[in-house]
Amino acid sequence: PNPSILILPGDGIGPEVMAEVRKIIAWFGDKRGLRFDVSEDLVGGAAYDKHRLPLADETMAKAQEVDAVLLGAVGGPAYDGLDFSVKPERGLLRLRKEMDLYSNLRPAQCFDALADFSSLKKDIVAGLDIMIVRELTSGVYFGEPRGIIEEGNERVGINTQRYTESEIERAARSAFELAMRRGKKVCSMEKANVMESGILWREVVTRVGKDYPEVGLSHMYADNGAMQLVRAPKQFDVILTDNLFGDILSDCAAMLTGSLGMLPSASLGAPMENGRPKALYEPVHGSAPDIAGQGKANPIACILSFAMALRYSFDQGAEADRLEAAVEKVLADGVRTADLLASEGVEPVSTSQMGDAVIT
Ligand code: NAI
Ligand code: MG
Repeated sequence: PNPSILILPGDGIGPEVMAEVRKIIAWFGDKRGLRFDVSEDLVGGAAYDKHRLPLADETMAKAQEVDAVLLGAVGGPAYDGLDFSVKPERGLLRLRKEMDLYSNLRPAQCFDALADFSSLKKDIVAGLDIMIVRELTSGVYFGEPRGIIEEGNERVGINTQRYTESEIERAARSAFELAMRRGKKVCSMEKANVMESGILWREVVTRVGKDYPEVGLSHMYADNGAMQLVRAPKQFDVILTDNLFGDILSDCAAMLTGSLGMLPSASLGAPMENGRPKALYEPVHGSAPDIAGQGKANPIACILSFAMALRYSFDQGAEADRLEAAVEKVLADGVRTADLLASEGVEPVSTSQMGDAVIT
């Protein structure tokens, strides 16, 4: 049987950018003999409109069965007033939680043609290709106790940074596995100088690293890591970090490379029976209500998310390279959606023209 993909376009520009991914999937079937069983369903506001839920149980069950889920984006002003329990983002949170997607992969890659777009000097980012692995299901965003309590005559806000050895170990393993397919370097970031969880983090990562003798492991305090990311980002290959630091460091790394419309991501969980990891691929951007329905959205973030699926779910590294090279070529040829226009006098292409340009 062909590998299976569940497409959840979602809201706003989600369906627009996903239409371009569908073209690309069709292209791989026709031209490369690489076929997938593709099904499609609702998530977010679109699911709420039909089911009064941001993710129906049947959709959740399908997501658990397929080899990979591709998601567009969720949310929009029409749903801002909804009760928290049925907000569009809850659909996404449910997917991440029930699929137990503990390893969030955020590449920061600089396409030469867009190097001028970076907030940094061109020579600092040209050729940049790093990957941040963020632990996604534990840490201070989930740790107990939490809450706002009365203490004496004032209130105290409490969150708890908490990591078990096995949570650290599985995130670390995914970073080392990735490094084996890339530049064979892992830099682990925590605050072992001031945090107990950081001490344990460093110890467990060091232990897991012994299973990967080919991978060079280094450790860095996360605050220094933030500084190094903007000072000399090319020193890194894979950066491994926890949920909180990863949230911040990955947004920081994102801005090294320019537009939100270019950034893909993957969230991976434990291997399934067929050996493939549970996996959800999605662009970093949201539903962009300000440009939705106008054919202006840049589909590249979503297209590159599919390239990550080819690489990490379907073991098609060479085909992923092919797709990434096609994106690089289109950019080098000067094809630009509106978000990538730095100067006057260049006509932007539409979402669908960008998708067409990538496959031709
Ligand atoms: P956003 O990422 O949707 O948009 C931020 C800005 O970037 C906007 O000006 C938008 O036009 C632009 N932009 C984003 N993606 C683009 C693309 N592919 N091509 C061209 N321009 C692009 O973030 P915002 O405005 O904070 O949130 C809008 C909605 O999306 C909210 O309802 C929010 O909750 C939701 N959201 C959903 C996410 C998800 O589904 N994972 C992530 C972030 C926000
Ligand atoms: Mg963030």
